[in-house]
Amino acid sequence: MIPISPKLLRWYRRHGRTLPWRGHPDAYAVWVSEIMLQQTRVEAVIPYFERWMDRFPSVRHLAEASEQDVLNLWEGLGYYSRARNLHKAAQVIVGEFDGQLPHSVDALRKLPGIGRYTAAAIASMAFGLDEPTLDGNIRRVYARLFNVDIPADSTEGEKLLWSLAADNLPKGKAGDYNQALMDLGATICLPKNPHCENCPLEKNCQARELGVQEARPVLKPKAEVPHHIHVAAVILQHGRVLLAKRPSRGLLGGMWEFPNGRVEANPARGLPKAIKSGYSLDVCAGEALGVVNHAYTHFRVTVHAFRCKLLKPIRENSRQETKWLKTSELDDYPMGKVDRQIAQKIKIIRENP
Ligand code: ADE
Repeated sequence: MIPISPKLLRWYRRHGRTLPWRGHPDAYAVWVSEIMLQQTRVEAVIPYFERWMDRFPSVRHLAEASEQDVLNLWEGLGYYSRARNLHKAAQVIVGEFDGQLPHSVDALRKLPGIGRYTAAAIASMAFGLDEPTLDGNIRRVYARLFNVDIPADSTEGEKLLWSLAADNLPKGKAGDYNQALMDLGATICLPKNPHCENCPLEKNCQARELGVQEARPVLKPKAEVPHHIHVAAVILQHGRVLLAKRPSRGLLGGMWEFPNGRVEANPARGLPKAIKSGYSLDVCAGEALGVVNHAYTHFRVTVHAFRCKLLKPIRENSRQETKWLKTSELDDYPMGKVDRQIAQKIKIIRENP
């Protein structure tokens, strides 16, 4: 069989994307970019990466930052455990490795937030090690090149794809080769309507030869995403608004939010019980402030925001940390997309009472 790598590397030299972390002398920059790029497109990552490197130019700067500053800079990228893990891993790297990322895949994988893909990506791109890797783009390219017809997200499919990645890796060129596969997947070997006619590997592609490229990779059927109705309480008192901090683990961990909860039917009627059970707060719902829709990975929500009145003083032992914030302080507190949209509505109310 004709080897893939010489053609692909030639194509990459001419058509590879110029990206701010490429050719960066610092393994830290490669690590930050790889974490940001998980589940996120290159175009969305670039401004975040540049702001991050200005603000935290080294592992030590990141290790010494507060979690609030770290989450603030990440706000809008989503999957916030990535930011919390970067922060924790920076502290481990300073404490145990004198501020330098360890060079082996095994040591990298022991750091919070670094899995098989990321460890191999860093090892190949930053340290020149002969490590194959497999992200969503590379998986699609191999599934097409070798017409893999078992589900790529099954244990068996993953095993096969990782072994194809290992078997095709050119020694001494793994960093460029892995990135060439990523660029091919992102610009030519697209999920829909791939540009096969411009692909340097068209003649190698078994799926193209059979005309089944759009049906690869095969994936397991996805479960339907549930849709929940939530209410959010905007409790304004003496020019301040009450926010709660989410527990540090789990969805949106460590971010700030308006007290909220799930309701089954009429949002205004269900609100007092939802807020009481989640936050031990006694409130009643007033003016409706609007509706925000958002899709998370495993569910969708429609959030109805209401201005609310606090009926009893807050008890000290309430389950979550809460804070009364001036509306001018809202930007300093990291929030998910839903809460940031509600915060914008409040600003408008304050500016045009
Ligand atoms: N996706 C993940 N890592 C990448 C990289 N280094 N270049 C382009 N796309 C990527």
